[in-house]
Amino acid sequence: MRLLLPLLLAPFAWAQEQALIDLGTELFRTNCATPYCHGQNGEAGRAPKLIGHSLTRARLLEVVRDGIPGKGMPGLKEQLEPSWIDGIVAYVASLSSHAAAPAAKPKPRVLSAAAKSGRGLFFEAARTGACGTCHVADGWGIAIAPNPATPAVTNVAELLALQASHVVTAKPAAESAFPSYPAKQNADRVELYDLSTKLPVLRMFTPAQVTVTPGSNWSHARASGLYSAKELETILVFLRELR
Ligand code: HEC
Repeated sequence: MRLLLPLLLAPFAWAQEQALIDLGTELFRTNCATPYCHGQNGEAGRAPKLIGHSLTRARLLEVVRDGIPGKGMPGLKEQLEPSWIDGIVAYVASLSSHAAAPAAKPKPRVLSAAAKSGRGLFFEAARTGACGTCHVADGWGIAIAPNPATPAVTNVAELLALQASHVVTAKPAAESAFPSYPAKQNADRVELYDLSTKLPVLRMFTPAQVTVTPGSNWSHARASGLYSAKELETILVFLRELR
C-alpha cells in the first residue's frame, strides 16, 4: 500500500496540474502576451522569450508575484488572485520543455504606397497609444477593440466622431473608477481593459470586487487625436484596402 498510494495519486496530481496550466494559459494570453511584453505563446515580444527557459518554479513564482525591479517586469500580486498567479507559474513552467515554434509568416498582402504609409502610422512604435495598441489590422496589433476596417467609418470626420458606447466605468472597491472596455465576464471573473492610460492594461476582478456601470468619460477622439487629420486620412486609406 505504501507503494501504491503515490501511484494512485499521480494521475490526480497530473489532472490538477493540467487544470492549473489551462487557467495559466488563458491568464498569460491576456496579461503577459501583448506585443509590448512576452508575445503570444511565450515567444519574444519586447521582453525576453519564455519558451525553453530554465527558471525554477520558485524563481518563476517570485518573478510573477513581485516582478523584476528596474527591468520593466511588473509584479502581478496586487492585480491577481493567488490561485491565478499559481496558474501563470504552472503555464510558464510548462514552456520550459517546449522548443520554440517557427514563427508563422503573415500572408503577404499587396498594399498601395499610401496604404503602406497608413500602416506605418497605425502601428508606429514611437507613438505611444498608436491605433495598433488596441486594434488588429493586417494580421498585426493587439485585439482589444473591434476590427477597425469597418465600412461604417469612411472619412476622418466619422473617425473623430466615433462613439464609445461600449466603454464602461469600472469602480473597484478600494480604488477610484476608471473607463474600461469589457474583455470577458463569467461567474467568477470580470476582465476589463483599463483605458485610463495610453497603453490599456487588462485588469481582473472577482465580481464582488468591482462595480461596472454603462457609459464612461472616455472618448475615442483621445486615441485618434494623437494624429493630425492628414495622418488619419492616410490611416483610412490603409483600412479601406483591408476591407
Ligand atoms: C486606447 C485604445 C484605442 C486606440 C489607441 C484606438 N482605438 Fe479605435 N476603438 C477602441 C475602442 C474601445 C473601440 C470600441 C468603442 C465602442 O464601441 O464603445 C474602438 C472602435 C474603433 C472603430 C469602430 C469599429 C467598429 O466596428 O465599431 C474604428 C474604425 C476605430 N476604432 C479606429 C481606430 C483608429 C484608426 C485608431 C488610430 C487612429 C484607433 N482606433 C485607436 C479603442 C482604441
